[in-house]
Amino acid sequence: MSADLTAARLQAALGERAFRYYDQVGSTNDLAHDWLLAGAQSGGVIIADEQVSGRGRMGRGWYAPPGTALMLSMVLHPGSDVVGRVNLLGGVAVCEALEALGARDVGLKWPNDVWLQRRKVCGVLAEAHWQADRLIGAILGMGINVRVDFAGTPFADTAISLETVTGPVDRLTLLTHLLARLDHWRAPLASDALFEAWRARLQMIGDPVAIKVLHETISGIAAGVTPDGALLVRQSDGSLRAVAAGDLALGGH
Ligand code: BTN
Repeated sequence: MSADLTAARLQAALGERAFRYYDQVGSTNDLAHDWLLAGAQSGGVIIADEQVSGRGRMGRGWYAPPGTALMLSMVLHPGSDVVGRVNLLGGVAVCEALEALGARDVGLKWPNDVWLQRRKVCGVLAEAHWQADRLIGAILGMGINVRVDFAGTPFADTAISLETVTGPVDRLTLLTHLLARLDHWRAPLASDALFEAWRARLQMIGDPVAIKVLHETISGIAAGVTPDGALLVRQSDGSLRAVAAGDLALGGH
């Protein structure tokens, strides 16, 4: 356990909010899913100091050594018509929380990587859970690199930790800012304001991009987004293609 994130400090800061804190878990998203099935209310959070089988997008893993990241998952009960917005909620709220701590040049790489100085500072994993055609709820998982040392790792050129920009960060302070921004946006999930806040944060619009979608790679210039959040890519033949989901690389190849 690290001194800036302890059960006692969390209890004092989070007050009435339902939360569960663990020194070590498999994945906070998995625990939040179990909690959802057991009846957790919207806004409840699972927080962990270390995840040993954290999950990322597209089936990838997500790991941060103990004491180095803020990793949490929030239980949400959105309407089934707006459950796709949970992803946007995470990205926007994290950007705003980082700015509250003084970070600048914070934005998003479609769909939802949070960039700090155009390097990944946070990953967002939103998962909807259905029983047959009934939405049980959604889990919004976020992992913020606070003081992860990426030197000598494959992520040295593409990832960044918050503290390299802001200086020392108290993860509890970061958490309270993040929860405040999540609370602010989770009620108006369907609003144009949330969509616009997300769209305005996308920093790779106008850049050459390549998006891996199943067995295909779609290349071109990122031209914008559709109202349902798909990325519009201007292809070399001039046609515009909407990409609903995928893995985006910069550089167009
Ligand atoms: C990505 O691939 O960029 C998304 C990474 C999401 C990681 C976070 S850490 C907290 C939560 N629990 C998980 O298992 N994953 C998410």
